[in-house]
This record gives sequence, C-alpha cells and structure tokens, in this order.
Amino acid sequence: MTIAYADAGSIETAEARFRAEHPRYADTAVLDELRRTDFARLDRGGHVYLDYTGGGLFASSQLHTHMRLLESDVFGNPHSINPTAAASTELVEHARAYVLDFFDASPDEYVAVFTPNATGALRLVGEAYPFHAGDRFLLTFDNHNSVNGIREFARARGAQTTYVPSVAPDLRVDPGLLPRYLTDTRGEHHNLLAYPAQSNFSGVQHPLEWIEQAHAHGWDVLLDAAAFVPTNRLDLSVWHPDFVAISFYKMFGWPTGVGCLLARREALAKLERPWFSGGTIVAAFVQRQYYQSAPGAAHFEDGTVNYLNLPAVEIGLRFLDRVGIGRIHDRVAALGSWLLAALASLHHTDGSPAATIYGPQSWQGRGATIAFNFLHPDGRVVDERYVDRVARRHNVSLRTGCFCNPGAGEVAFTISRETLLGSEFGEGMILDDYVREIGLPSGGAIRASLGLASNFSDVYRFARFAAEFRDLGSVPDDLPPRIVC
Ligand SMILES: Cc1ncc(COP(=O)(O)O)c(C=O)c1O
Repeated sequence: MTIAYADAGSIETAEARFRAEHPRYADTAVLDELRRTDFARLDRGGHVYLDYTGGGLFASSQLHTHMRLLESDVFGNPHSINPTAAASTELVEHARAYVLDFFDASPDEYVAVFTPNATGALRLVGEAYPFHAGDRFLLTFDNHNSVNGIREFARARGAQTTYVPSVAPDLRVDPGLLPRYLTDTRGEHHNLLAYPAQSNFSGVQHPLEWIEQAHAHGWDVLLDAAAFVPTNRLDLSVWHPDFVAISFYKMFGWPTGVGCLLARREALAKLERPWFSGGTIVAAFVQRQYYQSAPGAAHFEDGTVNYLNLPAVEIGLRFLDRVGIGRIHDRVAALGSWLLAALASLHHTDGSPAATIYGPQSWQGRGATIAFNFLHPDGRVVDERYVDRVARRHNVSLRTGCFCNPGAGEVAFTISRETLLGSEFGEGMILDDYVREIGLPSGGAIRASLGLASNFSDVYRFARFAAEFRDLGSVPDDLPPRIVC
C-alpha cells in the first residue's frame, strides 16, 4: 500500500516507510553519498531540482577531471597534424569510441557523429534523408518539436507525413494500430519512422520492439533517445535503430552543447547532405565545382568539432558507468512511483481530486517524467503560472507548459483536429492568444522529472509543495502574460 502524501508524517517516518516499500532502493545508497559530495550544491542552495528531462546535473568531480585534463597539455584545432592538433584528435576519437562502447554499439555497425545537441542530430537526418515524392515520414503524435520539424524537410521534397495518434489517458499508441501504418508502404520508396524511446511529456516508454517491426516492413527508424538514455540502458547490440539522437547534457549535465547521432553505417550511407563545409570533405575546388566527401562521421560534422568539450563526454559516460545506469534506473523508479502516488492521493477536503496526471498512473512502461496539473476543488485547472510562483517559494525547479511536445498535449488536453482547423492563427500572436483561441484552461501542464542525483528529500519536499494546492481558493490575477511556448 502506498502512503498518501498527507499521511506521510515527518520526513523520517515517510522515508522509513518508503524504504520498506522499495527494498531495492537500499542498493542505490552510493547515490546518497554522491548527493552529499559531488552534488552538494543542491542541498547547499536548498534546491529541489525536478527538471532532469530539461537538463541533467553534472557531478563536481566531472568538472575537476575535465579541467585537470585541459590544463595537462596543449590542445589545438584538430584539423591538422601538428602535435597539439594530434593531441586533440586523440581525445576526440577516444571519446567517440567510448560513446559506441557505452551503448554497446559495434563499430562495424554504428558510427557516432558528434552534434551540438539532439536537435542537431535530428536535423542531420531530416535534411539529408532521401525523401522524394511518394516517400513516407511516419511519426507518433508524441514527439518533441525537433522531430516534428522534420516534416518540413519531408514536405519540401514531396514526401507524405503521417501521424500515429496516442490514446488518453495513458498517452500510449494503441498496440493494434501501428502495424496498420507500417504495412502501408509502396514499392521501392524510402520510409522513415520516428518516435521517442521515452516521452519528454508523459514519461511513456514506447516499445523498442517497434524497431524490428518497422524494419520488417522496409522502414528506416529514427529513435529519439534524448529523454530515455539518462535513466535507462539503451543496448545497441540488442536494438538496431538506424538513427539515434542524444543530448549529453541530459545524461550527465556537463558539457552542454554536445550531442550525438548514432547511425548505422548502412543508413548513414543513404543520407544526402545538402551542402559541404570545412571538415566534411577530402577535397573541394572552386574553378571546378567538385568536392569529395570525407568518409564516416567526418562528413556529418560541420566545421571544427567542440574539441575541448568532447573529452568531457567520455568523463561523463565513465561517471555513469561507475554509478551504473541500472542503479540510476532503479532509484528514479522507486522515487518516481512514490511521487506519482503522492500526486494521485492528493485530494481536497471535499474528496475531489487536487491533481490530474497525464499519462500512465502506474509505473509499468514509463520513466521518471511525470506530467500533471493541479485542480481547484471545482475541477478547474490551476493556472500553471501560479504553480510556478508557489514552486519558486519552495525552491522547487519544475517545468511548465507544453514541453515542445504539442502532440502529447493535444491528446492530454483533448484538443480536437476540428478545434485546431477552426481556429484563427496568425503572425504576431503570443502564446496567450493561442491558449484563448483553442479554449485551453491553462498554458499547459506541470512536469516533474527525476534523475541521478534525486533523493527521497526531493520527492518529500515536492509533496509538501503539492499540499499547498489542497483546498486552493482563487489565484491572484497579476500573473504575467504567456509569450512563447
Ligand atoms: C525527447 C526529446 N527530444 C529532443 C529534445 C531536444 O533536445 P535538445 O534541446 O538538447 O536538442 C528533447 C529536449 O528536451 C527531448 O526531451
């Protein structure tokens, strides 16, 4: 039986009961120790950090190791063979090999292309995938806008975009539905399926089994793993997506500005880059408009790679390896299921629910990203800007809005296609105008997400913050305008 937050008592009592309910949590004690050392800044500042899906946190030791490395030698631009360039190249290639190793990706099968972030990886695929008239781009409603945006490349080249809907309340895809879309392909065309391994909105984990099902029907698969890999093992010796997009700061906080496209060599060879640039070619001329592409990853890495930060990727991955991604997974599952239950048990004195959760209510097939809204006793959604204000008072860092995932939001908030087609949209509108035009009760949802430095105190203090919304009266009318989503 899970404890209702309201009956949780003191943090000591609540934690003792939590630990009794989740005996495997004790196996993650090393993370409590790291919280006291490598992540001491969280408690020093009194923070409750619940936006790991927005950005992961780095361990202080990662920074120290990185700075020591940079100070230990001289590192030059790797586009050369001089000694300082060679030193950089060695570090960059070491990091590249470690990325493949971390994901159990065979170097015979996969290439790791460094990008500025997951969006950069998705864009590389979108702009270079050989879409032509008659080709298909299939994607789930539940996708980040950096995947949705690929439809513009598809459209410009005459390919057809189709969305697979999610179904409320769990916000999963109907298992009977996907095969119907996958079998709808024509002849020798190029077909690309894109979906997130874990939703950045609801935490739903979409089945990795879809990869092989899609391959069997002639689809290439683009797996957006940005929200999945910080707390789940992605084993590329078991799963073989053609393209995988990742942002490293979401996994281990430092460095920002570096992501990765993991691509099967076969799939990479299909891509047709729309241009060339410094670093991506063997040779180019101006009096004859000829160029020859560089082989492998280099063809996809525009300009100078982030060579001083790339060594920190290996440092971050080694840190995760030492802690164990399985341990992080178990930890956020235990804490997340407590937080989910705390929200579900939140009621007003009159017995009406004080929160509504978007997505799975149980812990099966989901990750530690939880979307919800608080409700007034009369059932109205509490304005997310007021929630932000209360959260600030509690030093709680949450995310509010639509999280760049409009499709999940459209299903969660039951916005119909007819409503969208019948609404007046235009240049110059701010987000508030869209909220009004579509008839939304608020500017989106609230998202709490957990990660490797989360502890029981975080979820307990979240529950204390959530308790402020019980029997909530009216909210102040001085909330700021919503400008962008
Ligand atoms: C599932 C998912 N995909 C893609 C992205 C885009 O990542 P980035 O902004 O690092 O490019 C995010 C960011 O939140 C995400 O959660």
